[in-house]
Amino acid sequence: MNNKKELRIGLVGYGFMGRTHSNAYLRVPNFFPELEYVPVLKAVCARNEERVKAFADQWGYESVETDWKALITRKDIDAIDICTPNNMHAEIAIAAAQAGKIVLCEKPLARTVAEAQPMVDAVEKAGVRNTVWYNYRRVPAVTLAKQLIDAGKLGKIFHYRANFLQDWTISPELPQGGEGLWRLDNDAAGSGVTGDLLAHCIDTAMWLNGGIKDVSAVTETFIKERVHTGTGKKQKVDIDDACIFHCHFSNGSLGVFESTRYARGHKALNTFEINGEHASIRWDLHDLNRLEYFDHRDESIVRGWRSIHVTDADQPFMDKWWVPGLSIGYEHTFVHQVADFLISIEDNTPCSPTFKEAQETQKVCEAVLDSAKTRSWKDTGVTW
Ligand SMILES: NC(=O)c1ccc[n+]([C@@H]2O[C@H](COP(=O)([O-])OP(=O)(O)OC[C@H]3O[C@@H](n4cnc5c(N)ncnc54)[C@H](O)[C@@H]3O)[C@@H](O)[C@H]2O)c1
Repeated sequence: MNNKKELRIGLVGYGFMGRTHSNAYLRVPNFFPELEYVPVLKAVCARNEERVKAFADQWGYESVETDWKALITRKDIDAIDICTPNNMHAEIAIAAAQAGKIVLCEKPLARTVAEAQPMVDAVEKAGVRNTVWYNYRRVPAVTLAKQLIDAGKLGKIFHYRANFLQDWTISPELPQGGEGLWRLDNDAAGSGVTGDLLAHCIDTAMWLNGGIKDVSAVTETFIKERVHTGTGKKQKVDIDDACIFHCHFSNGSLGVFESTRYARGHKALNTFEINGEHASIRWDLHDLNRLEYFDHRDESIVRGWRSIHVTDADQPFMDKWWVPGLSIGYEHTFVHQVADFLISIEDNTPCSPTFKEAQETQKVCEAVLDSAKTRSWKDTGVTW
């Protein structure tokens, strides 16, 4: 790695996201060789020593820690990457920022706006670089959607529609809490589908279509009690199993969002459709290399939805990968985020979404939950 500067990573949590991030750090130097910085897998931290050592061996981390507090004091670590359940984000991020570390945090930034605020304050006070892994922005087709909107191709936007549907919690036998199931435990997750799935849709929506001003929501918890893995007893379920909300964007358009873990047959149907005065676009995670585009200005005899296979070198990120026509996948979105993060260090610019930007998504999530609880419209407090 001659002439390269190192970004020495300390990863906390080796679950699903620990793997996607580790893969991204490893791939970046191969596919973005021009970058000044290269990630170095310095240490991974989790509580179980045997398992964390096995993960370190598998992915090539130089060392392990079993206490994140020890990790953040290490002088040989530049950046702390938080891949733990949501209830651990704030404490680790604040301590890491206070220790002068760069902080990369998984989404949602926190469980509530109040919990997110000191995180934003901590990175700003310490003046440390920060980002939140809302990775769907960096699907090439989604980035292309942003370029088309910013170029004015859609004209004035009227409608924004998004879904994030799954079906994995339908069984009442599924316990709440613990490994793999912390998403069903409100203390660990902060909310159900709103913070877990809709947070992605909201981040993408506000990035593409501007701020969400106010919301009206309904939520439902279909299974009211589940055994808690921690206590072994049946306990009330406090998460939202499903959430539907509609909203006004600041640009005058209307939004409608739906998320559930009870849509039998759907594993991760993450879609959006945007309708403007001249054109519409739609995207579906299940076919992530495609962006569908309809332009009313086309000659009428050939007018119709085009299915754009976003794999050409002049389309976002695709000059880094294979040859035109060949697809990439989910894991590449994390590679793109690492690459953009390294570029932001070179350029001394923020890497979006920063903690402050991710807090705007947090505000919308909170207004959604509040609206459902009070059965009333709520202002989000997002002002752009
Ligand atoms: N960007 C995305 O698309 C995306 C997808 C999935 C999850 N996430 C987010 O990533 C985070 C992690 O989710 P996941 O699916 O990887 O969870 P996971 O359950 O697969 O992994 C969580 C990891 O955190 C570790 N951990 C828990 N408490 C810890 C502690 N005190 N100290 C050290 N390690 C600890 C666990 O051992 C485990 O390795 C969550 O915030 C989640 O919302 C984001």
